[in-house]
Amino acid sequence: MVPDDKDHRIVASALETAGIVKQAIVKVYKRSCHGLTQVAADRFNAHLLDSIRTPNPGDPVAAMIAGLLPKRSNGMTSKTYLVTGASDGIGALYADRLARRGHDLILVARRKDKLADLAGRLEAETGVSVEVIGADLANAGDLLHVEQRLRDDAAIVGLINNAGIANEGTILEADPDYLSAMIDLNIRAVTRLSAAIAPRLAAAGEGTIVNVTSVTALMPEAFTAVYPATKAYVLALSEALAAELGPKGVRVQAVLPGITRTPIWTEEKMAALPAHMVMEAEDMVDAALAGLDMGEAVTIPALPDMAQYEAYIAARTALRPGLSLAKPAARYGAVMAS
Ligand SMILES: NC(=O)c1ccc[n+]([C@@H]2O[C@H](COP(=O)([O-])OP(=O)(O)OC[C@H]3O[C@@H](n4cnc5c(N)ncnc54)[C@H](OP(=O)(O)O)[C@@H]3O)[C@@H](O)[C@H]2O)c1
Repeated sequence: MVPDDKDHRIVASALETAGIVKQAIVKVYKRSCHGLTQVAADRFNAHLLDSIRTPNPGDPVAAMIAGLLPKRSNGMTSKTYLVTGASDGIGALYADRLARRGHDLILVARRKDKLADLAGRLEAETGVSVEVIGADLANAGDLLHVEQRLRDDAAIVGLINNAGIANEGTILEADPDYLSAMIDLNIRAVTRLSAAIAPRLAAAGEGTIVNVTSVTALMPEAFTAVYPATKAYVLALSEALAAELGPKGVRVQAVLPGITRTPIWTEEKMAALPAHMVMEAEDMVDAALAGLDMGEAVTIPALPDMAQYEAYIAARTALRPGLSLAKPAARYGAVMAS
């Protein structure tokens, strides 16, 4: 019996739900299953999944899969994303969604035990491989280690710069050491990690950098002093990176969440917030990934009308001809003369 479309669909969908790089697997399946009976196709399906989970170098099916998937420097195959701040909140959800899209992952945060739990769950549920790196990205030595990995590992095609802290209080009561640590994590780490991966992605002509910033970047007067300033930096950096790297084939996206239900908020603070302003983290990340798929350079998951943001950018652009001129503006003349 020659397998019909239904048989093909059964096997293809089983493979798809295994979370494996879909197109490559379907190619293998089509090459290999043509003319098989249902029983043989099912056996092939099971064998294929085994080959993916436990690769055996002598196995012709594993060899076919290896030939179709992009090569990585350590001999394994996959397109890997590195996610910072993946032990909780938004970063953990990015990890979940990217694993379900078939990406291998490198997860970075300080709490290695939480990362390991997440890695175990994602490997079991999706079949991707997940490595964890315990690192304090506000620490120069730890940061350097992650930078080196981004520079050297050709399998890493995407960086999610998500780790960040907030909650510094007012500038009158803020701890200067906490402010420095916030700048180190929210600004320095994002900058250095982007700079570490960008040359390799640009040379490859493909890849993705996602920077999780915040809507507070657009309202610096309405929150605390330093956190929105760090997020305005990340927005500006992302815009500049998109302008420079976009033409070289690298996607750069700034994501601006509004208030999102994660452990960054204490339960007490969250309870005091108007419910209509609070987004679930799952919705935020799914919208951010939809924005990435749509090719947005700036994604504001909550904003109903993106034309408003475009008008804001157009107004900013209209300032340009007057921003650098040889003479001071006339309004200063009288005061300058006095
Ligand atoms: N939730 C919101 O309302 C909201 C709104 C706008 C923007 N954002 C932004 O979204 C991003 C994620 O925030 P979230 O709400 O998901 O916060 P979260 O639940 O507190 O998670 C923050 C993550 O960053 C990691 N992290 C913190 N300090 C770190 C360090 N020094 N080195 C390495 N990793 C570190 C944490 O892991 P470890 O503690 O294990 O290190 C954790 O995985 C942040 O950039 C935040 O500014 C959040």
